[in-house]
This record gives sequence, structure tokens and C-alpha cells, in this order.
Amino acid sequence: MTFGHRAEGVEVTIGCGGGGADKAMCFQYAQQWALKTGNTVKNFSPPGSFNEKLALYRQLFAAHSSDLDVLPIDVTFPAVLKDHLLDLKPYTKGLENDHFANMIAINTLNDRLIALPWFSDAGVLYYRADLLKKYGRRVPQTWDELTATATAIQAAERQAGRADFHGFVFQGKASEGLACNALEWIYSNGGGALMDAQGNITINNPHAAEALNRAAQWVGTITPSGVLNYEEEDTRGVFQTGHALFMRNWPYAWSLAQKPDSPVRGLVGIAKLPGSAQGPGVGTLGGWSLAVSRYSHHPAEAADLALYMTSAAVQKQRAIEGSLNPSRPALFQDPEVMSAIGDAAILADVLKTAVVRPTNITGFKFPQVSQNFYNAASDVLAQRTSGEEAVKKLATRFKRIKRESW
Ligand code: GLC
Repeated sequence: MTFGHRAEGVEVTIGCGGGGADKAMCFQYAQQWALKTGNTVKNFSPPGSFNEKLALYRQLFAAHSSDLDVLPIDVTFPAVLKDHLLDLKPYTKGLENDHFANMIAINTLNDRLIALPWFSDAGVLYYRADLLKKYGRRVPQTWDELTATATAIQAAERQAGRADFHGFVFQGKASEGLACNALEWIYSNGGGALMDAQGNITINNPHAAEALNRAAQWVGTITPSGVLNYEEEDTRGVFQTGHALFMRNWPYAWSLAQKPDSPVRGLVGIAKLPGSAQGPGVGTLGGWSLAVSRYSHHPAEAADLALYMTSAAVQKQRAIEGSLNPSRPALFQDPEVMSAIGDAAILADVLKTAVVRPTNITGFKFPQVSQNFYNAASDVLAQRTSGEEAVKKLATRFKRIKRESW
């Protein structure tokens, strides 16, 4: 395929701003496209976190701003931003069929393809293989086993003089990362996914309450109290410097843990998150796509850049260099990709079985639903309320939002 055959010499702005190695890698490949096509690219670096990015996009779109041509969007953004994004179908000529069908479905609204999948994501458990071996423990299969193993190994490591060693770190800040974690705790505990496929609100149930209460007990015991302010990169900081036994994070953290200067290089394993007596472990489905703003002055070049960035060649490199999992099934068979992402078999399974946030039910109301959810989870973690109270209140809130529309 040739990229950039439409015109030459325009400036296209892309919003490279993911966590970890994502930002630099994103811009590097955008510049590669510019070199190939004779265009130039500029980086409009949006803030790293989900919530701040969404807020910024909404602001730019409200002003019909042409400041950003190509923008990364989360799997949960399409219904919220759809009116401001270009239909990419006229540019793709069927190439979207090389991606996972579920990611194309997420990005297709009213028969408009509003973004191209860039990488797929799902929550996984990272563990210190060396420490599990040292203490004769296995990778935990249930949350209770994780709690017991983390308690025992944290105590032993502290006894040995490592006062700042922790059992488990995760994303506990009141933001979308916590929504993903809490959904995993609840779903794998038999508590459902906030609502069912028909839109009936299911969150007010004892299994959901129990899962939140269990998580609250981690805070200040096997998890540092600071977790209430942790997003993905804070969590990785603790784990990668060798201060935690277990970490919940996304696949991107794998390649960074394996860098030559990483204190835990060669000591880390990756597994499916734990389950419970009620069911197997599950990761929340995540992932990012590239969209083109309707207000772009250079839509053809912007679409061309999005096609280049999501091509098999670039996805392969980003998988090898940054363990960003491809959105193309064919690349999961590629030996170089398979050996770079940690454990391709586990990741393929986690992606296939992942629990989906209820975006197709809630539509453009998703951010509001999710905000209520992570605030409730945060209240339980901070022991401001009980799991039972939190899920009861949430059901009432969801009902109110539903009455207005979804
Ligand atoms: C990751 C996921 C994304 C999720 C976000 C939450 O970036 O890919 O889907 O919304 O984390 O922090």
C-alpha cells in the first residue's frame, strides 16, 4: 500500500500522549509517515489519562477546533464523540476487515466507521516469579488466595528488612482505571457488569458488595494507602522498582519491566487475574483507536496517517517495542510479536474472555455512569462507606440516569 498519495506538503496534527513508551513511539511512527509522504506532523500532546483526554476532546470539539486532526480514542469514547468524527470508510477500502471484528463493531455507529483500531488492551495480573518461587507459592487463582499469598510474602519480606515492600498494587484513584479494576473484582465474584444486556440495572447484589469490601480490606494491609491516588503509571512505578509482589495493569507494562535498566527484568510473570468461588478471573476490555476530527482541514492526509499508524507494520513494531497488543488477529501468530508481548497465549485468552464496560447500553451517558461507579468504588476503598451501601446507592443513581435516557 502507498501512503500519502493524495497530496503533499500539509501539516497534520496528531495527539500522541499515551502512558509508558506509547507517546514517544506514537510520534516516531507519525514522523515516519511524514517522511514517506512529504507532509509534516505536529504533536498536540493531550494529557495522559483517560478522563483528562476526554475532557480536552470535548472542549476542542465544542469549539469546532481544527487544532487536532488525528486523535487516539478509547473503546469507551465512540458514542460520546461520534458526531465530531469523520467516517473513515471512504478511505479504508475494506482494510478494516483485518482487525478484530469486535473492535470494528465498537467503532461503527450508524454504519459510519469513526476510528481504526490501534491496539487492544485487557487487565492482567503481573507477579514476581522469583518471590513466588522463593516462598513456595503458586500464581493465585482466586482473590482470596492472592490476599493470603500477598499477606504472607509481604510479612516475610518486611521481616527481612524491606519495610517498603507491598503485596498488591492496582489503580485505586477515582478515575476510569478504578472503574476497570472494580468491574474485574465484581464480575469475577459473580456480581455482574453493572447492568445486563437488556439494560436492567444489576449492580445492587451481595456478590458485588462483597467484591468491593474485599478490595477495601487490601488498602493499608497488602496495598499502600497511597493507592487511592494511583493511576496506571503510579502503579507501575511501585512494581517496576521492585516494591510489590503483584500488580494489576495493562499489557503495556510488560515491555517496560523487561527494559535493561528495569530492576525487575527477568523476574516478572504475567497471568489472568484471579477469580473466585463464583467464577473465573477476567480482565476488562480496553484498547485505543485512531479517529479523524470532522473539523480537520486536511481530512484525506489525516485519514492516511491513521491508516499508516494502524497498519500491520506499525502495529507489529509497537507490539515488539512497547508490548502494545495488536488489534489484528494475524499478528498474534507472528513469532516476533509472540515473544515480545509476555505470554501470547494468556493475552489472547484474556482478550477473548474480557468483560466489556456497558457502553453500548449507556451510549453517550457512559462517562456519567462510569464516574458514579468509580466514585462509589473509591468511597468503599477509602472506607467512607460499605460495599452494600455503595451498590445500593449506585443502583438508584443508575436508575435516575436511565430515566433521563440511555
Ligand atoms: C487503558 C485502556 C482503556 C481504559 C484506560 C483506563 O488505557 O486501554 O480502555 O479506559 O486504561 O485508565
